[in-house]
Amino acid sequence: MIKQTQIKKILVLPSAEAAAKKAAEYIAKIIRKNPRAVISFATGNTMFPVFKNLQKINKNGLVNFKKITAFHLDEYYPCSPKKDYSFVKFLNDNLFEPLKIPEKQIFRLDGLAKDPEKEAKRYDELLSSHKINLVTLGIGPGRHLAFNESGSSFKSKTRLINLSQETLLRDHKDRGQDSPSQALTQGIANILEGEKLLLVAYGSEKGKLLKEALFEPISESCPASSLQLVGDKVTIIIDQEAAKELPNI
Ligand code: GLP
Repeated sequence: MIKQTQIKKILVLPSAEAAAKKAAEYIAKIIRKNPRAVISFATGNTMFPVFKNLQKINKNGLVNFKKITAFHLDEYYPCSPKKDYSFVKFLNDNLFEPLKIPEKQIFRLDGLAKDPEKEAKRYDELLSSHKINLVTLGIGPGRHLAFNESGSSFKSKTRLINLSQETLLRDHKDRGQDSPSQALTQGIANILEGEKLLLVAYGSEKGKLLKEALFEPISESCPASSLQLVGDKVTIIIDQEAAKELPNI
């Protein structure tokens, strides 16, 4: 049986470097068209080279990033922004400070909030009061989006979540991170509300996750399969290694 996906825009680049560059150009193009774009940023190894390319674009003066409004997807809980594994630290160091985005235009999840439910509600209200023009995404263990682990409702909003065994294994064993077992994350519903969604992935392991997410039936056991529900507004940028895992590409 030929497998189909609802997502038509899957761009395959020859290498991870080329895919990261393409993803940065995609983001920059949106900002060039709309300098006041509101963007939810993903973090992680996938985004590192994308942000490096955005820094280059900024340095060359090709795009002005100073008017954008920035949200992010997730943060460990509890987590100080000084911790090496903090996603807030990652964004401060690799995006917000290098691109000189004014503080008043940055909305961060507070990993040290005393009441995480209240913090989730605060963030959710902020998200609802903005039109999110772009959500950038990676894909993680269990095919999670942000920290929406397998079983997350497609109607889920920002909340505190228990990380899955798979995620903990990746963080503690594979990455040697001493990170917590909970996180604050935007929900699947928040992500799907974005005007455009960009998912970036490199390598065969991520390709396997994407195959399940994009070419298997939509199910809450596979959070990233929710992207198929809004296929028209999704762009996937991957390298050749990831593409080899996908049918019909
Ligand atoms: C992490 C984050 C996600 C990220 C994904 C991939 O756990 N919660 O927001 O997109 O997993 O991370 P990486 O790019 O480091 O593989």
